[in-house]
Amino acid sequence: MSQLRSIENFKNIKDKKVFLRVDFNVPISGGRVSDATKIEKLETNIKRLLENNCKIILASHLGRPQKNGKTGLSLLPVKQMAEKIFNQQIKFLEINNETTTKIVQGKEKLFMLENLRFDPNEESNGQDYAKLLASFADIYINEAFSCSHRSHASIDSITKFIDAYAGSTIIDEVNALEKVFSKSEKPVACLIGGSKISSKINLIINLLPKMDFMIIGGAMANNFFKREGYKIGKSLFEKNVEGTISKIYEEAKKYSCDLILPIDVVCSKKFDQPGVNKKINEVNDDDIILDIGIDSTKKIDQILKDSRTVLWNGPFGLFEYDDFANGTNDISRSIARYSQKKGLISVAGGGDTFAAIKKSNQQRHFTYISTAGGAFLEWLEGKVLPGLKVLENK
Ligand code: 3PG
Repeated sequence: MSQLRSIENFKNIKDKKVFLRVDFNVPISGGRVSDATKIEKLETNIKRLLENNCKIILASHLGRPQKNGKTGLSLLPVKQMAEKIFNQQIKFLEINNETTTKIVQGKEKLFMLENLRFDPNEESNGQDYAKLLASFADIYINEAFSCSHRSHASIDSITKFIDAYAGSTIIDEVNALEKVFSKSEKPVACLIGGSKISSKINLIINLLPKMDFMIIGGAMANNFFKREGYKIGKSLFEKNVEGTISKIYEEAKKYSCDLILPIDVVCSKKFDQPGVNKKINEVNDDDIILDIGIDSTKKIDQILKDSRTVLWNGPFGLFEYDDFANGTNDISRSIARYSQKKGLISVAGGGDTFAAIKKSNQQRHFTYISTAGGAFLEWLEGKVLPGLKVLENK
């Protein structure tokens, strides 16, 4: 990948009006932000721009207003949370022809635009809309890696009308991903969990040539158990993926990547009943597989202990229920331990994975945790992210 135009190399930031594309697409419940991680992540960068006497125009989307309607999707609650986190008054602005005047005349240093997706031209990458957004500022910084897989006006077209740079959070994210993908220290292990094999197939196929171990968990593993001839009872599985599974086996063989499946599992009859640890050949017709078992956890721990780099995406059980969170928690703890004690380079990403690591309270020990979902997966699948493409050095 060619180098991104980093804002770190831009020397004249002082006194500039900065259009900061952020990802403040955060969960809101009861009119309040219920998880502010994405906002907190920007604190240092905002501080640095304020120290340089910049006026900062924060711009984000929230949800899918064109599909679901605007109700509950104003960024006002996000503004209130951001004021607390940044300890600064923020002036909230509608997007129209008077926005620039309000920014120029405003005494505030921080501004926040209303939800970019309230205008359909955001998602259609509209040129006039992008031009209008660009006219609010002197320079543009993209700090939203997690939105850079979208060819939207505030990510893509806007860069035609204003000096555009990659912010430090994007540079950090790309560096972390390159550490596990193209510049990894071997042995390198990959853990892929979650429920839908069809949503992860491109990811697995693209990663196999780079990995020494591909460890499969979560409901996705049930498809592999079926292929191996084991019973999976009433467990979740995906139909018509036999060809996909065969391709994964073939590619793993071709690239000498060790495909690792759980050897035991935790089964229950219901989600709200505690589970029983069973060997994979002991699963009954009325069992539901809801977690990996103790022996599998130990096996994975040993692989992690011997690895230099690890990439993790997707929980290994129904971690939202405490009875079925042990496998995922143990993996999180093993990765954290070896990152701390043995210098394991550990990169994790995806919404559920992030939530699972937070639940096990190990987040500070990972080398890097991406809060991005779709963009994280698309980068690892080898796709060109339009929002990064436009920030490459010419
Ligand atoms: C995310 O939460 O992953 C980003 O904000 C992207 O959101 P989107 O899927 O609505 O584009």
